Amino acid sequence: MKKHLFIGGDWVEAGAYRPLFSPYSGEPIAEIAFADAAEVDRAIEAAIRARPRMARMPAHERAAILERLASLIRDKAEECARLIAFEAAKPLKTARLEVERTITTYKFAAEEAKRIHGETIPMDAAPGGEGRVAYTIHQPLGVVAAITPFNFPMNLVAHKVGPALAAGNTIVLKPAGQTPLTSLFLAELLQQAGLPAGALNVVTGSGSVIGDCLVTDERIKAVTFTGSPEVGMAIRRKAGLKKVTLELGSNSALIVDQGVDLDAMIPRAVTGAFTFAGQVCISVQRIYVHERIFDEFVRKFTEQTAKLEIGDPLDPRTDVSALISPRDAERALQWIAEAEKLGAIVAAGNKRDGNIVHPTVLLHVDPKANLSCKEAFAPVVMINRVSTMEEAVAMVNDSSYGLQAGIYTPELRTALAAAEALEVGGVMINDIPTFRVDHMPYGGVKESGTGREGVKYAIRELTEMKLVCFHK
Ligand code: SIN
Repeated sequence: MKKHLFIGGDWVEAGAYRPLFSPYSGEPIAEIAFADAAEVDRAIEAAIRARPRMARMPAHERAAILERLASLIRDKAEECARLIAFEAAKPLKTARLEVERTITTYKFAAEEAKRIHGETIPMDAAPGGEGRVAYTIHQPLGVVAAITPFNFPMNLVAHKVGPALAAGNTIVLKPAGQTPLTSLFLAELLQQAGLPAGALNVVTGSGSVIGDCLVTDERIKAVTFTGSPEVGMAIRRKAGLKKVTLELGSNSALIVDQGVDLDAMIPRAVTGAFTFAGQVCISVQRIYVHERIFDEFVRKFTEQTAKLEIGDPLDPRTDVSALISPRDAERALQWIAEAEKLGAIVAAGNKRDGNIVHPTVLLHVDPKANLSCKEAFAPVVMINRVSTMEEAVAMVNDSSYGLQAGIYTPELRTALAAAEALEVGGVMINDIPTFRVDHMPYGGVKESGTGREGVKYAIRELTEMKLVCFHK
């Protein structure tokens, strides 16, 4: 299966192709176009040509295209889920949930397209402002570069494509190297939904070649990126005066206070740690548990972990499958070994079959260990004992990341104090940090990024506010 570039509404043969392999079986699954700088330039040109048509398109038409896209995905939901499972090794049941969320994201984008409005400004509030009427409008930026990760190949693409189109922009999309198939399928569906040619262009190939072309090109007005902090920081350095939204990594933490119903919350904490093998930016990676309930928590958590089904992503019973690459599986095992050397105890897992790393639970991990202070992006969770909730909050904040955090506590005061003190973009009270629905503001502080997604908030990042002032 040879997959071409999608430029200006056409499938364009590329100069070079590279094989794509299944992360689970290692078998080749497709031949993917490997774009060079000239082909990226062609995609940017196509997006520039489509710009006036998209910018002039009425909001109700943009909304209708996004609505039609949502219903086309609904019609092909199982095909989409199988494609995600196939290229990303995401277990089918998790992939099905991603498809449901993708439909919701595009529906929100359709709704928000009709709600992009400014405000009136009381000009006479300042001396000298008398006799003036002013209001703001929010205009599309132009061409947006969207660079997306492998872990949610449909929904994190939707979080960039949906808001960008809702706002009347055009897009050059560079999907993750391992997961181009879902983005190419999206291009097909958007064409069927009536999107004008050139409004979405998909270029596949090397992240650094395509990324550099997009990020440094003056015709691109905004870059929206989800991926690693290293790449995010390089984008910010190279992007000049473009708007930049960065959704980067995290070592997300969960705090568990005494007095909570462990039987009710542990299945959720286990899901948060091991869904898609921990390859989620808000995966539960660090758990800080009050000393009075520590032993009971660890026992119940490891019992629940042992129930997870491990295997083929296309088997509907599977909970945990392969990591995205052998390098990532290798790194996970090295980090486990390093944590053990620093004194941690392995309570479950620490085993590898091919690219599958078995769900691993470590106790008493040194804060200096990679598994504590870096993003694991693997099915590995650490559980440490704390004496007070203040100590737990300090441990959570002792991190270069700050995306989301969760705290289970029966004490309102503790919850409110933690909500204020935790240095993150979102605090989940009585829930895991992995909680997300697609219209809520989502994004991080520190090395977890800048800007916010969640459709309405992403639209703010992808429009320019203009003031209009009438002198009577
Ligand atoms: C992410 O990995 O940043 C996205 C998590 C989600 O959308 O649930």
